[in-house]
Amino acid sequence: MNPSAFWLRETSYWLPLHFPLSAWNTHAPFAAWLIDVLRPASVVELGTHMGFSCFAFAEAAARLDHPMHIHALDSWEGDDHAGFYGDDVFNSVRAIADRDYPESIRLVRGWFSQSRPLFEDASVDLLHIDGRHGYEDAVQDYEEWRSVVRDGGVILFHDIAERGRGFGVWQLWEQLERDHPTFTFHHGHGLGVMAVGDVEAEPLRRLFAADEPTSDRIRGDYERLGAEIDLRGGFAPISEELHHSRLHASQLEDDVARLEQEAEELRAAMAFLEQRVRDLESSTSWRVTAPLRAARRVLPHRD
Ligand SMILES: C[S@@+](CC[C@H](N)C(=O)[O-])C[C@H]1O[C@@H](n2cnc3c(N)ncnc32)[C@H](O)[C@@H]1O
Repeated sequence: MNPSAFWLRETSYWLPLHFPLSAWNTHAPFAAWLIDVLRPASVVELGTHMGFSCFAFAEAAARLDHPMHIHALDSWEGDDHAGFYGDDVFNSVRAIADRDYPESIRLVRGWFSQSRPLFEDASVDLLHIDGRHGYEDAVQDYEEWRSVVRDGGVILFHDIAERGRGFGVWQLWEQLERDHPTFTFHHGHGLGVMAVGDVEAEPLRRLFAADEPTSDRIRGDYERLGAEIDLRGGFAPISEELHHSRLHASQLEDDVARLEQEAEELRAAMAFLEQRVRDLESSTSWRVTAPLRAARRVLPHRD
C-alpha cells in the first residue's frame, strides 16, 4: 500500500462476504473505503435487488465495528433494466440480512416515492441511488431524495457511464458535476460520488479536490481492485461457506461446553443424593424399622 495514496486504505482490499449477481460488484473496494472514511450512521439505498451493494456497505461497517443503519428500499418487483422477478429475490435478501446483519439492515419494500415520508430531511449520511436508470427516473429519485442527506453527506449514483438502451443517469450526472464537488469512476458501468454541502472527512475532501493525474491513478487503482473482486467473486461461495462453517463450529463448541457444564451439575447432584441414601441407610431409625419393611414385603398386599 502506498502511504501517500490517500485513496487507499486497508478497507480498499477487503473481499465482500456476499456475492449475489450484480452489475455493481466491482465497486465493493470503493464502498468499503467510503464507509471507512465517511463513517455514516445512516445509509439509504434506492434499489437493492439481490443485495450486492447493500451487503457490501453493511459488511464493511460490520468489519470496522462501526454502528450503522442501512435502509434498503426496493419494490422487489424489478424494472425494465434490472428485469422483472419473483418473491424469491426478496426472500433471499431477507434471509441474508436477518442472518448476518440483523442490527444494521432494514428492508423497506415498496415504491421509493411512497417511502420518502418515512425519512426526515437531513437525517442520512450516505444516499445510494440505483433504481431505474432513465433520465426522468434518475431526476425524480434525485429530486425527491436529495433533501434526506445532511450537510457533509455523500450521494452515490450508479450507471453514470451507461449511454445505451434508455439509460440517462449520465445526463443528470453531467448537470450535477457542474455545481457540486464530485468524483467519477468509469468502470463497472460508472459510479458517481457527489458531496452534499461541506465535506468533513479529510480523505473525501482530497478525493473531490484531486487533480486529473491523481484522479486517473485513483480510477486505475479502483478499477484494478474491482477486477480482482470480479475474479475472486468466483470463489466467494466457497469462502462464504467456510465463514458459516466456522460460525457453526463455534456454536457447536458452545453447545458442547454448555452440555459438559450440565453433566457436571448432574453428577454433583447424583453424588449428593447417593450420600443422602447412604446416610439414611446407616441411620439408627432405618435399622430399627428394618423388620417392618421386611414384614411388608412378606405380608399379602391389600388395596
Ligand atoms: C439496478 S437494480 C439495483 C442493484 C443493486 N444496487 C445491486 O447492488 O445489485 C434496481 C432495483 O431498483 C428497483 N426499483 C426501480 N425503481 C424503483 C422504484 N421507483 N421504487 C422501488 N423500487 C424500484 C428495482 O426493483 C430493482 O430491483
